[in-house]
Amino acid sequence: MNYSKKTPRDISLEGKKVLVRCDFNVPMKDGVIQDDRRIVSALPTVRYLLENGAAVTLCSHMGRPKGEVNPKYSLAPVAKRLSELLEQEVILADDVIGESAKAVRAACKPGQAVLIENVRYDAREEKNDPEFAKALAEGADLYVNDAFGAAHRAHASTEGVSKYLPAYCGFLMERELEVLGKALANPARPFTAVLGGAKISDKLALIENLLPKCDNILIVGGMSYTFQKALGGEIGASLCDAEKIDDLRALLAKAEGKIMLPVDDVIADKFDNEANRKTAKAGQTPEGWMGMDIGPETAKLFGDKVLSSGTVVWNGPAGVFEMSNFSTGTRAIAQAMADSKAFTIIGGGDSASAVELMGLADKIDHISTGGGASLEFLEGKNLPGVACLEDK
Ligand code: 3PG
Repeated sequence: MNYSKKTPRDISLEGKKVLVRCDFNVPMKDGVIQDDRRIVSALPTVRYLLENGAAVTLCSHMGRPKGEVNPKYSLAPVAKRLSELLEQEVILADDVIGESAKAVRAACKPGQAVLIENVRYDAREEKNDPEFAKALAEGADLYVNDAFGAAHRAHASTEGVSKYLPAYCGFLMERELEVLGKALANPARPFTAVLGGAKISDKLALIENLLPKCDNILIVGGMSYTFQKALGGEIGASLCDAEKIDDLRALLAKAEGKIMLPVDDVIADKFDNEANRKTAKAGQTPEGWMGMDIGPETAKLFGDKVLSSGTVVWNGPAGVFEMSNFSTGTRAIAQAMADSKAFTIIGGGDSASAVELMGLADKIDHISTGGGASLEFLEGKNLPGVACLEDK
């Protein structure tokens, strides 16, 4: 797939009406934004459009309101935060393609930005309904997709509108494609992937795609126990996806030693932060105990690999890091990422939250704004929200 896409730099914007799809799906709690990184990351594109004389209509989804209007998923807090960050008012329309949106969009002048309500308030968004896409495109001269986090979705606002408007790549999207694309095609070596998370089924395609490209794949987190089981280890009550054991044996057989598994685990007698806990050699977890984190020897071994790499991609925590007693392994990986001279990339989701929580985010070279999207990109899949944009 061609990742070299035309951007707003390639066109004249003066007086143009531009529809911009962002991923403003930020974590919210009781109407308060918990982390505004996705909003801040969209600013370079929005500012560039405004400074070059465009009238900007922003759109995004928030959460999964399932095609119904639900104030819990309103973009109102986003409009407020955008107004603060841009230091100019960003008016929010009350609806997506209704009378309010039409009026707000029509009144938007060059140098101004407006926001329409959550595109998922309308069930036609996720169905990629052509009429709905056409209504979103109406009145705009061009479309910019900067929603890397939603680029794996073929929805009306991420893909459908490109059938009705010339479609360009926003700067956040451009940077994500450049960084992740380079890691896959031409990484500084050794190229190490640290892959964790609970479910092996979510990560198998990722491991398969990275195996020929990486020098080391370090397996951590809940999915490591199924690997241990595949090697004949005892894993007690740890997470295990029995159906995948044969696949893992086949994978290990062709991995030529590139796949490294934990050598020890922190195990607990129940799934609770206050559970009894101890360190066990990998594959020697007694009945009734479960793996909750990588052990200290593994943390040191894997940390050293991260430190001596040229490029590191990390996706998925090393343990149940939301429980403080089982966050040590994830913290050790995050610290090694921060200290490493390698080009470090975090593939969104939980590992991004972990470095954010630890205050190490500014020591990482690239934290992807995509969770599912960066995963699918690294799996080698085509992203519909990228494929629909004009090639350079
Ligand atoms: C995300 O947070 O991963 C994106 O915003 C996509 O959200 P979705 O999984 O609800 O499509």
